[in-house]
Amino acid sequence: MNRLILVLTAAACIVIAGCHRDMWDQPKVTTLQESDFFKDGSGARTPVEGTVARGKLNEDSLLHDGIENGAPATRFPYRITKEILEKGRERYDIFCLPCHNQSGDGFGMIVQRGFQQPKPFTHPSVVERPVGYYIGVLRFGFDKMNGIEDPNLADKVHPPLGKAMNADERWATVAYIRALQRSQNARVSDVPQEILPNLDKPQDEGGKSDH
Ligand code: HEC
Repeated sequence: MNRLILVLTAAACIVIAGCHRDMWDQPKVTTLQESDFFKDGSGARTPVEGTVARGKLNEDSLLHDGIENGAPATRFPYRITKEILEKGRERYDIFCLPCHNQSGDGFGMIVQRGFQQPKPFTHPSVVERPVGYYIGVLRFGFDKMNGIEDPNLADKVHPPLGKAMNADERWATVAYIRALQRSQNARVSDVPQEILPNLDKPQDEGGKSDH
């Protein structure tokens, strides 16, 4: 009997020792690792269709898609402040200026090097577009917003850029484009009363006003 216990204990020790794993060496699947456990060979599981990640429920279609009552919105979702415009200029300079250029004339460096030239943002047909259209170009692409649905011609020229920005950054950029448009089409009546008397005064060194 004693011998049997001895043999069993020895066997148990061998088995336990054989199974020993350090905690840092656990069986696990790391990001994008393949796995033979699931049929599709991928360790990652695709979320159930319609799953919404926490904080990603874009239920506000005006804010997120620029759509109101089923059409491109004609208003901003909130009041545009100077801070928002400054944010917009920063985003514009990073993401849009290389093609649309600093003034929005559509002749940025990428275009100078041969890329298709966009219409200037001051072109009447672009100015008259509602703000929701601009958001749409960023969210869904130029083609989609202009009814171009050729499956062989994916929107290579103007793919949706919105992925690089959140909703507030998109609106800020669009507000800045509106400012660019206004700045090149301003009338004296657009100038606030309190600044009006200063219009005739020289602005900076050498920068004399024509008025
Ligand atoms: C790689 C170059 C490129 C970049 C970067 C780019 N655009 Fe464009 N964009 C174009 C071109 C080219 C068109 C014209 C597309 C056409 O006519 O097929 C266009 C068209 C547009 C239009 C529509 C104008 C119209 O004629 O209706 C808007 C709005 C616009 N861009 C906004 C932006 C904004 C905002 C950014 C930055 C977030 C941006 N684009 C970045 C190249 C670019």
